[in-house]
Parts: sequence; C-alpha cells; structure tokens
Amino acid sequence: MPPPPPRPIHISGHAREVRDFYATPAWVTEALLKHVTFRDKVWEPCCGTGAIADVLLRRGYPVVATDIAEHGYGQGGVDLLACTAMPPGCGALVTNPPYGDGGDQRDRARSPTALLDMIRHMLALTAAAEAQLALLVRLQWIAGKRAAALIQSGPCTRIITLTRRIRWFDQDETNNAQHHHAWIVFDHRRARRGPPGFILTD
Ligand SMILES: C[S@@+](CC[C@H](N)C(=O)[O-])C[C@H]1O[C@@H](n2cnc3c(N)ncnc32)[C@H](O)[C@@H]1O
Repeated sequence: MPPPPPRPIHISGHAREVRDFYATPAWVTEALLKHVTFRDKVWEPCCGTGAIADVLLRRGYPVVATDIAEHGYGQGGVDLLACTAMPPGCGALVTNPPYGDGGDQRDRARSPTALLDMIRHMLALTAAAEAQLALLVRLQWIAGKRAAALIQSGPCTRIITLTRRIRWFDQDETNNAQHHHAWIVFDHRRARRGPPGFILTD
C-alpha cells in the first residue's frame, strides 16, 4: 500500500468538533496552577463542559463560566468576541481557546487568523481590567511570526510548557498526543521586565 500523503501538522485527519470543542484534561489546568496564582474571580469564556472551570473551582477560585454554545455548563449563548468588558469582579481570564474554524471545513484556511483575532480581543479585555490572562495553545503556534508578535505586544510574564503531551480523544488511536502545548500567561498589572519566564512542567 502506498504511504498516506503528507498533511499539515494542524490537520488531524478527523472532522473537527463543532465550534472546536475539545475538553482539557484536568492535569493541564493543575500544571498551570502549580506556577500561577490568580488574584480574583476567574472568567472562563469558552468553558465547554467546564473542564478548566471545575479545576479552578476545586482550587477555591470563584469562576464565571460562559460559552457561545450550549454545552450544559455555565451560561451558553455568550460570544466572547461580542463582549466589551470582563464580567464584574473578574481579575483573570483563563481558557483553552477555539482554533477558529468552527467545525466548518471551508473556514479552515482562515483558522490561524481567527485564533489571533480572538487572542487580540482577550488581550484588550484583560488590559482594560488590568487583569491576568492564561491561554492554552500549541507550542508550535507560539513560534509563528504573527503569533510571536501578538504575544510580545502584551505583558507576557510566563510561558509554561507541558512536557507531557495532551491526549484529546481517548477513543482515537492515530491522533493522540500529536502536539506539545503551553500556557501563555499575561499580567496587565505587571510592568514587563525582560523576557517572560520559561517554565517546563508536567
Ligand atoms: C477547545 S474548546 C475548550 C473548552 C474548554 N475551555 C475546555 O478547555 O475544556 C473551545 C470552546 O470555545 C467555544 N467557543 C468557540 N467560539 C467561541 C466564541 N466566539 N465565544 C465563546 N466561546 C466560543 C466552543 O463552544 C468550545 O466550547
């Protein structure tokens, strides 16, 4: 049998979940919390079924959980891109953002731009509230020219790289643990002094 044709690293070969829904395993958020303390109530604006929010709640953080879709957790029908401010009392935004193709194959080409736009929006919302921002992204993504410029435009304080790879779908044999991921952490209350701290953790 001939070998399969090469495919870009960001395409798994699987139909993407609707609105890019992938639940984050608990250890991933626990790894973040080993290295970062949030000041106030946390907003999880792409909460899905609450995988990140539940870990934060267990660690004692009050959480506001919203999502554009109805996943049966938190408040559905809230489009992050339409939000003009953080929810009252929130001093941090923590999420695993959607990659941006919304599950629509035709939109795949604009996916990288959609993620950049969403992160730009989250940086603006957190800047206005002098808040913290922690985003789970693919390690490879950070090194892209546009992503790097966006990250460097904000007060990035830490890049927490997970040495263990994330298994997104338990049932899948071929696409498990394809990428390494990292939390990029910003703090609009901290004047940037030098480059962000680089942490390797599991
Ligand atoms: C990769 S999943 C992550 C879910 C959850 N944060 C987790 O880590 O388990 C991305 C989530 O973003 C939501 N989403 C996509 N576009 C959104 C938007 N414009 N505003 C709010 N939520 C959005 C999807 O419905 C989905 O639940």
